[in-house]
Amino acid sequence: MANSVNIPQFPQAFWRDSVSLPDFPKLNESIRTEVAIVGGGITGITAAYLLTRQGMKVTLIDASDLLNGVTGHTTAKITAQHGIIYDELIQHFGKDKASLYYQACMDAKQLIEDTIQTHQIDCDHRQEDAYIFTNSDSYVSQLETEKKAYEQLDIPSELTSSVPLDIPVKSGLRMDNQAQFHPLKYLKVLVDEAVKNGLDIYEQTTAVDIEYNKHPTIVTREEHRINCNYVIQASHYPFYDGEGFYPTRMYPERSYIVAVKTSETYPGGMYINAESPTRSVRSTNMNGEDLWLISGENHKTGQGKSTMKHYEALQQYAEKQFGISEFVYRWSAQDLTTMDKVPYIGPVTKNEDNVFVATGYRKWGMTNGTIAAKIISDRILDEDNPYAELYVPSRFQADPDVRKFTSMNADVAKHMIRGKLEYTNDNVKDLSADDATVTRVNGKRTGVYKDQDHQLYAVDTTCKHLGCEVNWNSGDRTWDCPCHGSRYSYTGEVIEGPAKEPLNKVELE
Ligand code: FES
Repeated sequence: MANSVNIPQFPQAFWRDSVSLPDFPKLNESIRTEVAIVGGGITGITAAYLLTRQGMKVTLIDASDLLNGVTGHTTAKITAQHGIIYDELIQHFGKDKASLYYQACMDAKQLIEDTIQTHQIDCDHRQEDAYIFTNSDSYVSQLETEKKAYEQLDIPSELTSSVPLDIPVKSGLRMDNQAQFHPLKYLKVLVDEAVKNGLDIYEQTTAVDIEYNKHPTIVTREEHRINCNYVIQASHYPFYDGEGFYPTRMYPERSYIVAVKTSETYPGGMYINAESPTRSVRSTNMNGEDLWLISGENHKTGQGKSTMKHYEALQQYAEKQFGISEFVYRWSAQDLTTMDKVPYIGPVTKNEDNVFVATGYRKWGMTNGTIAAKIISDRILDEDNPYAELYVPSRFQADPDVRKFTSMNADVAKHMIRGKLEYTNDNVKDLSADDATVTRVNGKRTGVYKDQDHQLYAVDTTCKHLGCEVNWNSGDRTWDCPCHGSRYSYTGEVIEGPAKEPLNKVELE
């Protein structure tokens, strides 16, 4: 890799580039299994590991390659410090449930550590303190309030006036004894162990529906069927909604990571600021050197400025605060947030207790994904889990954020209508290489991308989920939907649901 301080031309996640994962076949027949898991990220793989250890027959399918979704693109902090959340949880759920939330995260951390110990996994796991910091007067009192919530919940912590990282800080809230690791080095061993215990894995196999008879049956895009006793939807956005109305109960956001080397030695710790735009910092080990992971710049999927601008903002921040000696990787991730900020983990609806969802991790997938795997596998194994009720998707909490969700849905309606009317008049002939535009072809709103070799790819921009219009994401070269976050490659293939079908291709004359 060239040694450069410039932004890499193509996105690539360090985690995926530093581990080689085995390949698995595509499903080409109908099969029967006990538990079918859809989605090969931390939730699906951990659940497969836990269930196969207990002798269950498990099959896992993924629409793409294993660990190529959010888990392959995370910051991989293993922490109960999920931003400023505990005061809010106490207000909305009460002290006992807020305490359960913290305990669930710490149990997930313990489960990860026990698994590392059991299999002697070399995954750069390290205990680190986690900090929320602020350089804004208006957030200093919020951190004080959050500290009081920590005290009520007996969370080991300290309010500080500085942090180990050399950045301007007015106040910092430290949560002691959190951790970080290389998620793919860890999960690769779980895959190996689960396969030894009989797990079957199929990649490039997309689930599109569930049929019911006596048992649930997953239907794949190629119309093969997986008949089973239980389905675990660990696919980020549930592909099967069961009238649980998930698109109206969650919103998607994208965020960005740059991985750089600096001339400074990393002082330890994991950091996130309280204010916007988000700035999160941790380091990892790359061939014995510190690789600094700087992330943030969240925004609603498919909306806002050119996505390359978000990478540039992180680059400027990294350069100003730490000085970049080498810009090694850049990548982005998508996360879903629920109405009350607590993930939805459990039966997809009250009446369907053999089809599970695990979603809405709000960027904290290492702990939330592990909690989900444990709650759902305990349920299948008929074991009690003290956290199941807190996360149950059918809960209803009267929350001030309901108003925010009403406006989110208004936002969806706005995009549904406005997207159909707006398009740029760019002439496709004038399009530069590696750029895209939206135009009209035979009256239809059409997205056109020109690749490096001047080959054109044209797609109908109507999203296959509920018909909003997708927008170009220049940082990742994808078409992203502003309504519920579906994402498509420039050829129109689905990268991220809830859409299940590719965009229609358009013939250019
Ligand atoms: Fe719902 Fe596109 S993701 S309309």
